[in-house]
Amino acid sequence: MSEERKPAANEGIKTRSNYLRGTIAEGLADSSTGAMSEDDQQLLKFHGTYQQDDRDLRAKRRKHKLEKAYSFMVRIRVPGGVVTPAQWLQTDLLANRYANGTIKLTTRQAFQFHGIIKSNLKRTLKEINQAAMDTIAACGDVNRNVMCNPNPYLSEVHAQVLKLARDISNHLTPQTRAYHELWLDGGKISSGEEESEPIYGKTYLPRKFKITIAVPPSNDVDIYANCLSFIAIVGDGKLAGFNVAVGGGMGSTHGNQATYPRLADVIGFCTPEQVVDVAEKVVLVQRDFGDRTDRKHARFKYTVDDHGADWILAKINEYLGYELGPVRPFVFEDNGDRYGWVEDRSGNSHLTVFVQGGRVLDTPSYPLLSGLREIARVHDGDFRLTANQNLIIANVAAANRPQIEKLLGQYGIQDSHLKSALRLNSLACVALPTCGLALAEAERYLPDLLTELEEIIEENGLRHDAITIRMTGCPNGCARPFIAEIGLVGRAPGRYNVYLGGGFAGQRLSKLFLESVPGEGLKALLAPIITRYAKERHGGERFGDFCIRAGYVAATVQGADFHQNIQPEAFAKALQIGSIPPTP
Ligand code: HEM
Ligand code: SF4
Repeated sequence: MSEERKPAANEGIKTRSNYLRGTIAEGLADSSTGAMSEDDQQLLKFHGTYQQDDRDLRAKRRKHKLEKAYSFMVRIRVPGGVVTPAQWLQTDLLANRYANGTIKLTTRQAFQFHGIIKSNLKRTLKEINQAAMDTIAACGDVNRNVMCNPNPYLSEVHAQVLKLARDISNHLTPQTRAYHELWLDGGKISSGEEESEPIYGKTYLPRKFKITIAVPPSNDVDIYANCLSFIAIVGDGKLAGFNVAVGGGMGSTHGNQATYPRLADVIGFCTPEQVVDVAEKVVLVQRDFGDRTDRKHARFKYTVDDHGADWILAKINEYLGYELGPVRPFVFEDNGDRYGWVEDRSGNSHLTVFVQGGRVLDTPSYPLLSGLREIARVHDGDFRLTANQNLIIANVAAANRPQIEKLLGQYGIQDSHLKSALRLNSLACVALPTCGLALAEAERYLPDLLTELEEIIEENGLRHDAITIRMTGCPNGCARPFIAEIGLVGRAPGRYNVYLGGGFAGQRLSKLFLESVPGEGLKALLAPIITRYAKERHGGERFGDFCIRAGYVAATVQGADFHQNIQPEAFAKALQIGSIPPTP
């Protein structure tokens, strides 16, 4: 018996919103509360902001019968991750003027501000736009920030590829004038004028949509974790075109077998001229066939799984009116960043700076925010946000490098060579105190856990051996933990699900090794595995590969398999924390 399922509540909110206006203007003007109405909170995401509250303060405020300490997270889109020094300075200024004095560099090459109160929200968005940046479609059921490998040193085709990332981004930006009206004092649309959203329509997409462009051998943007990706194919120094990958995604819900992370399928090839068209048509396929009844089943990855990759390819071809070509060979080596200075053929230099958890701030021992401000004042190249929450001070002219190096020294910034490769390959999502979905700490806890794990790393001589480790506060997976070699995913306060066996280049999902491990048990749990890896690995064998070969986890195939097959022997071994023989 087939039953007609009701559209999800958000579909009604979108339909009624008059192209994302809702009652946002009225809500902003209401000074009796720091919050916005439930419906407007959903619409605000499309404008690039999430209502949050400081969870550290909840209990105290409840006791004093105060409303929650509401504030707003604001996300600035940075297509391809490239900003000018002037834009960096404006971001820094706004972080100090309206937010909590810090800038978060996100895992999708965006800036995030935290702690902006409602009465400052409009000013913040307006002043972001004054620096030629925006926040529209940074969140919400639309195409989000388009990512692109940010390292100009890595490829001669970089400028071309970056331009395409920006073209896709512009093409898929919502057309509604609500954004200008609400935040930029743009005139109201007159009653006779028709507004239209040619690509999205009134109800936009079923859920968020994520696009990336990678330039092999680097998979830093993690193409397998995104809805749609383009993999640059370069021959004789020229851009031949792109392989097209569809249907990747991370989010899952603990204990819900119908939700799972999924790796993208590489389904075809297109020329550089076709890229924007292909992006549009893939978005249209998801607009028309994505599940609008269940938001936990609405991402493009489920559309691909429900219909099959072949059906999706045929549908994309049909929408295009031509066929994607056969997939071309490509090889990814890693999904991390390459630290330190590199010089390109033009003589310009680029420095990748490690930013712990992507959080740019000043502490007494490490005034990173101030140092970068001074650098931005004299820098005549650009800054690039990496997909690994780091920062590239890019395109430093030879003549300018000495003064940049002097500032780096003065502020103690250039020290990535002193850090363990484990730390340099770590990611942490925001989680507590701002993220309303966090079940456990991530960004505030991972640095300390890494310090503990570094003891084992040092004991085993692994300081320079990269192992990817990623922690999130919940299984939504914002820091892409399910493709890390070690994934730690919040289960409850202080407890983490431990996933092992992800591919070093982000090409394989990890698998659940042990559930709900207390934070203080993580070192003991991982120590024997890391020790065995140091002693028993084959030449060049990666940690994730070793975890599978040594039988700690089985390789995950795809889809719902992710939740199954928690190997009983692995459990048995793991439960004897500390008593696993380090080496036979
Ligand atoms: C159901 C799925 C998801 C939901 C509901 C969700 C929701 C959120 C929320 C509320 C935040 C704000 C946290 C804060 O700043 O306080 C956030 C941050 C973020 N999310 Fe998600 N998220 C989901 C999945 C994902 C996935 C799969 C990715 C990427 C693969 C992603 C990428 C990000 C990024 C880049 C940030 C910024 C902070 C960071 O770099 O960690 N999200 N997400
Ligand atoms: S992974 Fe979960 S806890 Fe972390 S930022 Fe995303 S939604 Fe919040």
